[in-house]
Amino acid sequence: MSAPPDLPEIVTRAFDVSRQAGYVSFCRNETGRLLATLAATREGTMAEFGTGCGVGTAWLRSGMRGPKTMILTAELNASLANAAAKIFEDDPQVDVRAADWATLRDKGPFSLLFLDSGQPDQVGVDQISDLMEPGGVVVLDDFTPCEQWPPLSYGRVDPLREQWLLDERFTAVEVLVAADTSVILATKR
Ligand SMILES: C[S@@+](CC[C@H](N)C(=O)[O-])C[C@H]1O[C@@H](n2cnc3c(N)ncnc32)[C@H](O)[C@@H]1O
Repeated sequence: MSAPPDLPEIVTRAFDVSRQAGYVSFCRNETGRLLATLAATREGTMAEFGTGCGVGTAWLRSGMRGPKTMILTAELNASLANAAAKIFEDDPQVDVRAADWATLRDKGPFSLLFLDSGQPDQVGVDQISDLMEPGGVVVLDDFTPCEQWPPLSYGRVDPLREQWLLDERFTAVEVLVAADTSVILATKR
């Protein structure tokens, strides 16, 4: 896939913070570019569940338009959340919280949600659907591409992917962002 080698300045800053924290669990640049592209289409409140060290947040921020749009992001691990918060300390449009994402349930509805908390049992459609505005887009990261139905992961049916791709509350698609990784995009009906 063709992409310019330079990263947005805010993303470079987030990588520096990750490196200092010794933290390596962040979205790939291909996914980041998709997040930025989607963020550029959004207004209102965007959210991220699972901030890590702020790389995904930075990609979202790099695409965000206009002074009224907000990003709200929650990270359970306080030291990671504090590191990420430093990246955005002068930015009134990004709110990093050291908290369980469940505490953001009443802060929506969200126009975009990067669902990246790494807990498959907590991020099913039932838990998320009511948090999204009509037309709001949920992004689920880090699937291993699979060309058959039902989708398999490690030789077994992948219930999370199957659920998101079938649920009638969303129109959803799995998209390859690189040869070895895919995301699900799900738009609230
Ligand atoms: C894959 S990493 C996030 C990476 C980040 N989104 C990025 O792209 O840079 C997943 C993070 O979710 C956090 N997490 C797990 N459960 C959570 C919860 N219930 N609320 C908030 N964060 C959670 C973990 O501590 C971990 O740092």
